[in-house]
Amino acid sequence: MTSHSIAVIKGDGIGAAVIDAAWEVLQAVAKGSGFALHDTAFPWSCDHYLETGAMMPADGIDTLRRFDAILLGAVGWPAKVPDAVSLHGLLLPIRKAFDQYANVRPHRLLPGVQGPLRTDRFDILCVRENTEGEYAGAGGRIHVGTPHEVAVETGIFTRRGVERILRFAFTQARKRRGKLASVTKSNAQKHSMVFWDEITRQLAAEHPDVEVTSYHVDAMAARMVTAPESLDVVVASNLFGDILTDLGAAIQGGLGFAASANLNPERGAPSMFEPVHGSAPDIAPLGIANPIAAIWSGAMMLEHLGETAAAERVMAALAATTARGIGTIPGKDRTNAITAAVLSALS
Ligand code: NAD
Ligand code: IPM
Ligand code: MN
Repeated sequence: MTSHSIAVIKGDGIGAAVIDAAWEVLQAVAKGSGFALHDTAFPWSCDHYLETGAMMPADGIDTLRRFDAILLGAVGWPAKVPDAVSLHGLLLPIRKAFDQYANVRPHRLLPGVQGPLRTDRFDILCVRENTEGEYAGAGGRIHVGTPHEVAVETGIFTRRGVERILRFAFTQARKRRGKLASVTKSNAQKHSMVFWDEITRQLAAEHPDVEVTSYHVDAMAARMVTAPESLDVVVASNLFGDILTDLGAAIQGGLGFAASANLNPERGAPSMFEPVHGSAPDIAPLGIANPIAAIWSGAMMLEHLGETAAAERVMAALAATTARGIGTIPGKDRTNAITAAVLSALS
């Protein structure tokens, strides 16, 4: 029997509840589909930091390298550990060390979900650059605490990094409706985004079958709300992609629906699957976190592992659940009830 070994990092807050739900669904579908999933759980989180002084051990990356995939809940609990410490100690180093440069975030309305827009034609795929740009961690502060203090955060854009994410996005557009929207801010940013637009034009010439349009990120934010049916694949830098995908999540019914895959497309290292949302400290003790984003991320993991039929079964079970009105209204159904409905839709 095929077997896949998965590193599971539940992380903080609602991370545990949504990953427990996703794992239950993944196990059920694996059992019914004739393959095995083996989990190894890592307690890396803000509590782990408070106990050990590190978000993950020094050899954490080496430990994760031997797995077929990583399933992650959420990282961050600002009341205990500053975000700049927790995220730069766990989530961001994994994306970077494993060169998971393509952060793929599908945004579409599941049946029965009433998004905030009047249209129900909302189906886009965001492709977010995931290893460089504004997240490079390049910068510093001088004259700290004085009136002359200066803080610098440099966005790093390499030709290799921009070209490979754009190529990945062109490929995704070919598999979908053949449209690519490339997002920059080249009217205000003089270097990086002009460079991004140039590379987009170069690659457009190689992909005459894909219709490419460049948009400024501010205009794209408006377009996602006013004309979402005009969009198919949307490719953006790390920070712009981060912001646009919370908007995409809101349009698809809320953060509880938005899934993501942090892919190393060349498969030289494990890819990581996680919901777009964070640890949700405001609802963490209440038992009402929506597990759909985490379960959907699990389906993306199955797809990546080659278990396409099982991935489709999970997506069909999610659709059957929301079509019954379960999990569609934030806070109405408990995490356990949504998970139980997905499990029963599987069988
Ligand atoms: P958040 O995504 O945790 O929460 C934003 C809002 O969405 C909250 O009102 C929350 O209750 C709601 N929400 C999120 N997920 C939900 C779900 N599954 N079901 C129902 N409601 C849900 O964002 P935040 O408050 O800005 O961040 C909280 C912490 O999480 C911070 O430490 C932040 O840095 C971290 N964070 C981590 C990740 C990650 O690990 N990938 C992503 C985003 C934020
Ligand atoms: C996300 C999150 C992270 C990001 C944070 C927690 C660093 O918001 O995965 O969207 O900005 O990438
Ligand atoms: Mn985000």
